Amino acid sequence: MKTFEDGKWLYGDSWEKFPIEDGQVWRVGKNTLAVKDLTELNSLEFFGQNAFDMSYIDPPWNTGNINSFYTKAGFQDKREFNSFIEKLMLLVKTYSPKINYVEMGSQNLDYVKDLITQLNGIVTNTWKIKYYHKNPCFLVRYSFDSPTKIDFDFTGIDDDFTPRFAMQYEKNINSVLDLCTGRGLTGRTAHSLGKTFYGTELNKRRLACLIDYYHQQGLIINKSTQRDY
Ligand SMILES: C[S@@+](CC[C@H](N)C(=O)[O-])C[C@H]1O[C@@H](n2cnc3c(N)ncnc32)[C@H](O)[C@@H]1O
Repeated sequence: MKTFEDGKWLYGDSWEKFPIEDGQVWRVGKNTLAVKDLTELNSLEFFGQNAFDMSYIDPPWNTGNINSFYTKAGFQDKREFNSFIEKLMLLVKTYSPKINYVEMGSQNLDYVKDLITQLNGIVTNTWKIKYYHKNPCFLVRYSFDSPTKIDFDFTGIDDDFTPRFAMQYEKNINSVLDLCTGRGLTGRTAHSLGKTFYGTELNKRRLACLIDYYHQQGLIINKSTQRDY
């Protein structure tokens, strides 16, 4: 019988095969992954790149959700939604000013849109989409630059597919950033479309699922230990 040991039951044995640790940066094919708590980041220099063409991020949607992810990652720490999302937005503004997508639940949708505006960003679109094929949530497209429009309506599409449509319909996207990579839907999608993925994630076991997937696709793994930024 499977037991819950440090998240193994939840996330399988990918981490046993690919034991990425905090402070390490793994290059898998042309993609770069790191275990990082985004609230503690002041820079994304460990990626070896300072600008990304777009971000697509599905972050926790409220304080309870954040803290359940900390618990699943094996941490006692607590974080509060407003400061968490502000840090995320500041990193996006600095490193991916052009085109960005964030998924959000209804509770904090207006807060997030107001925050983007306060940070001198522009919300170009808000679509009502779905998760788990039935529950409503929202997809917000925003920019801290001069955004071009896209002629695509995401309304009603499940969030299993929205990253793919976003990457396909945006122009001139080579690099894609996700600061809450999880098990790697954005990362898998980016790879399948020939784009280069850069991802951070709090939970090493969740991130290892993406490394496992890349490995199954035949990508070569290179690890390096980096100092923290
Ligand atoms: C809704 S899930 C993302 C799902 C993801 N799209 C996937 O394919 O699995 C949110 C993710 O944010 C991560 N997360 C939560 N707090 C974080 C933090 N402070 N820094 C980085 N990642 C964090 C969680 O561990 C979780 O994997």
